[in-house]
Amino acid sequence: MSDDISPIEAAKSAAALRAAGYVKSGMKVGLGTGSTAAWLVKHLGKMVREDGLEIIGVPTSIRTAEQAREEGIPITTLDEARWLDLTIDGADEYDADLALIKGGGGALLHEKVVATASDRMIVIADESKFVDRLGAFPLPVEVLGFGMGTTRMLLEEMLEGLDVTGTKAVPRMAGDDLFVTDEGNHILDLHLGRIGNARQLSLVLNQVPGVVENGLFVDICDICITAFSDGRVELRDAHNGKVEKSEPENAFADLSD
Ligand code: A5P
Repeated sequence: MSDDISPIEAAKSAAALRAAGYVKSGMKVGLGTGSTAAWLVKHLGKMVREDGLEIIGVPTSIRTAEQAREEGIPITTLDEARWLDLTIDGADEYDADLALIKGGGGALLHEKVVATASDRMIVIADESKFVDRLGAFPLPVEVLGFGMGTTRMLLEEMLEGLDVTGTKAVPRMAGDDLFVTDEGNHILDLHLGRIGNARQLSLVLNQVPGVVENGLFVDICDICITAFSDGRVELRDAHNGKVEKSEPENAFADLSD
């Protein structure tokens, strides 16, 4: 492992490198957002530049699009691509059923649209993202600016009757201003503590008219690749429940540019 990279970054890189192995020439690939997905874009960029990998990427955010361009990965829009072979993205939390919380980086809407328009979604994570029960990470919900205060009130009232331990909806800030998503909306972070029924919660949240989308991904992720700070990598398959473990590998051997 390189000296100037922390164990957690090493783990993110290792998970991303393993996921990059699923990407083959000719594929249309959804490119996630966040610090783990940034490792994926870096690995794929190297494969495009040096190994002749021919792919088209569909970025899930403006910042991922910028990185993909810098790395030399050809990109297009989802409208152009229509349907993708594979999407690879990070997560803020995942459980044993591969239900996810996403949106810590604010890109949940495009991430969900892109992931659901893909034959397969692979999540890449470091060991800190696995939880027995979702909810410790505040659940991001993208909301319209119009009537945001009312949406917040409705959400908090609705949460009172659901299987969660907290009900606070906190507007996400960027300095003194409300955080603005790539679609020009805002985010309410729901401090739920523990989510008893993620599937039900996801459906109910989206019933509130001011809600655009929520950061729960249920039955969307097919495979989760988790890397540990000691270099071990674990692969969970949502369809057969299998967990494969592999021995430490050097995630940085491939990144000497
Ligand atoms: C971006 O909106 C998020 O969904 C990220 O994919 C998620 O927050 C994971 O980010 P990190 O890889 O930076 O932890």
